[in-house]
Amino acid sequence: MEVIICKTDDEMSRAAAEAVADVLNAKPNAVLGMATGSTPLGLYQQLVRMHKAGQLDFSQVTTFNLDEYVGLPVTHEQSYHRFMHENFFRHVNIPPQNVHIPSGTTRNYRAFCDWYEQRIRECGGIDVQILGIGSDGHIAFNEPASSLSSRTRLKTLAKSTIDDNARFFKSRDEVPIYAITMGVGTIMEARKILLLANGKKKADAVAQAVEGPVTSMITASALQMHPDATVYIDHEAAGKLKMREYYDWVKEKKPEAPRV
Ligand code: GLP
Repeated sequence: MEVIICKTDDEMSRAAAEAVADVLNAKPNAVLGMATGSTPLGLYQQLVRMHKAGQLDFSQVTTFNLDEYVGLPVTHEQSYHRFMHENFFRHVNIPPQNVHIPSGTTRNYRAFCDWYEQRIRECGGIDVQILGIGSDGHIAFNEPASSLSSRTRLKTLAKSTIDDNARFFKSRDEVPIYAITMGVGTIMEARKILLLANGKKKADAVAQAVEGPVTSMITASALQMHPDATVYIDHEAAGKLKMREYYDWVKEKKPEAPRV
């Protein structure tokens, strides 16, 4: 696992956007795994900026989002469909038929989840998966005690996640209790993983995910087993890391890969 500690949220977003751009430059028809939440917003803004500057073309890209709330219509202002449309898809040139977001309104969740997994396989698997992290260490909506080999499924949210996400809704009662989420096993099959975290509130989760034991109690800790996972964090989110000096040393000494 590579840990890149950035001075600011903006630096974090730019570094992660460069990593996504590198994948797209090498493979213009890459399959991107998308995340919601406030953390990747800066990364999406950077990708949009590169696209508008003519540096990044998304015309052959396919996307799969991690998760969606159950019961919210796609037009609901807090649905992840709406979030992705507003913050990313409407600004770039991904063909709409190439966009996949779990359905929060299907009447047959099990069949839908199987179909979602099948679509990921049919599209050749995810080349680069973007992730945030919940304050309880979850990735997507894989709450503590989720199987580390779980697949896309319906999941009941933890009360702490409902509390965390209540800030986006008019009241806590409006926060959905269920979500459809890719499993930890689904995420782990992505060829490359970028996890972003910012702010003090994430410092404990980041420390446990990066330096704690691999445990289903912190589903992000499964990334320690991934061959190509990079964690991009700001100073505050890095606040509880024991090996912080080492990560900075590695970053400083990293040989510049020659750009072709
Ligand atoms: C939700 C999403 C996660 C996201 C997390 C953190 O739980 N399902 O994918 O990582 O929120 O969100 P934020 O970045 O707003 O802190």
